[in-house]
Amino acid sequence: MRFQILTLFPDMVANGLNTSVIGRAVEKGILQIDAVNIRDYTQDRHGRVDDYPYGGGAGMLMQAQPVFDAYRAATGGRKVRTVYVTPQGVPFTQKLAGELAQEEELLFLCGHYEGIDERVLEEIVTDYVSIGDYVLTGGELPAMVMVDAISRLVPGVLGNEISADTESFHNDLLEYPQYSRPEEWHGKRVPQVLLSGDHRAVEEWRLERSRERTRRIRPDLYERYERREWAIWRLSRQKRDTVHLLESLRRGRGEILLARGEFSRLEGSASQSSALLLYDRACSTCLLTASDEAGVERGIGEIPEVCRLAVASPGFAAEMLCGKAGFEILHECLQVCYTERRNLRVSHGDIRPLGPEHEAYVAERYGLGSRAYMAGRILAGAMYGAFVDGALAGFIGVHEDGSIGMLYVEERCRRQGIGASLEAYAINREREKGHIPYAHILVGNEGSLRLQEKLGLCLARQNIWWLAKKTCILEQSMIDS
Ligand code: ADE
Repeated sequence: MRFQILTLFPDMVANGLNTSVIGRAVEKGILQIDAVNIRDYTQDRHGRVDDYPYGGGAGMLMQAQPVFDAYRAATGGRKVRTVYVTPQGVPFTQKLAGELAQEEELLFLCGHYEGIDERVLEEIVTDYVSIGDYVLTGGELPAMVMVDAISRLVPGVLGNEISADTESFHNDLLEYPQYSRPEEWHGKRVPQVLLSGDHRAVEEWRLERSRERTRRIRPDLYERYERREWAIWRLSRQKRDTVHLLESLRRGRGEILLARGEFSRLEGSASQSSALLLYDRACSTCLLTASDEAGVERGIGEIPEVCRLAVASPGFAAEMLCGKAGFEILHECLQVCYTERRNLRVSHGDIRPLGPEHEAYVAERYGLGSRAYMAGRILAGAMYGAFVDGALAGFIGVHEDGSIGMLYVEERCRRQGIGASLEAYAINREREKGHIPYAHILVGNEGSLRLQEKLGLCLARQNIWWLAKKTCILEQSMIDS
């Protein structure tokens, strides 16, 4: 991912972002961060970039010309999402960080003095964003804050997917207190349970501390947490049909946009009509299920304009998204999930995560994913390969939406159980992360369905439909074949 930061203090930005995790990601080529000096573009003989505001008032304003020319040089005519960091912007949140992390390129514009001439902002800025209700002397620190928060969501930056999964806010709870050596310091002992070696008790203790802390410090977050827990509880009673929604919430990626009827803690099962609409931050997709047309209607009203992909069930929900919300059907899929409490046997010996050196191999063989998509999956540590005599014989992966898929086995290596081993391996890895493994199978793919049955996955009674906004040219498909 590429960041360009338009600033009057390029050294401050460059120095602030060249160390630790972000610095290493730049070295590895996962991130590119360029600071562009706005002053280099002024036409003023004395190098000035500011002037007095018309109408009077304190301070100086940055002029339109140098900002615009710096922007043009940075973008070279490309359309790039451009963030102006300003206290007048929308609040920067984890959710917005996730949305911005989906872009391949971002430009940040840092103001100084009393701001920037409004006319150039109107021409180039796509997003006005603030890091909080306080005023700093310039936009560099806010831009660095945002670049940092966005970068750690880019696959590969944190090294593995687990780190991003365990982050604070991922389930609307603040983090629990942590302790390191020594066991006693200033007369304070580390809580006994943390020394017990009882992992279950430790997890329970941590969850309780998180809940207590959140209830006390952030009642707004706690309310969201309870809403989510309720929906998870309802979904887990029908997980076969709704595992994609359940896992989106359990993995801390799904935000509830609408919960009605049985999915609402307040309404409960008293209401006849039920609907649940989630926005999955990790794959920028809306997930909708409803018991009737009224529920779908309400869901449609809550789908954000920016959302280009949706998963709907049952069939009438998909039809209504097509008829009333400008979507069209990409695929109808069967959904399967693995709910057994034991790992599967992996008979093929040499299966391991793939690295960037396998990008071309994988992209050439998996027809439904773009090269960039497959590269992202490899970087996220979510692609696994089976090797025969040291050579790659097939692969499988976990899609951005969390489903297992992308299974491919070389022609010459088929009918030797490698496909089953790959899927068993992926299922086991998912289970180790505490996930319920699931997959979407294109209707008509009998071979895949037989494999799912053989491995003991259970088939949903309801199909699901992947949909895309009609106006969007879908470059990446994320569906299993
Ligand atoms: N520039 C000055 N203060 C700011 C803030 N709070 N957020 C974003 N940009 C700023």
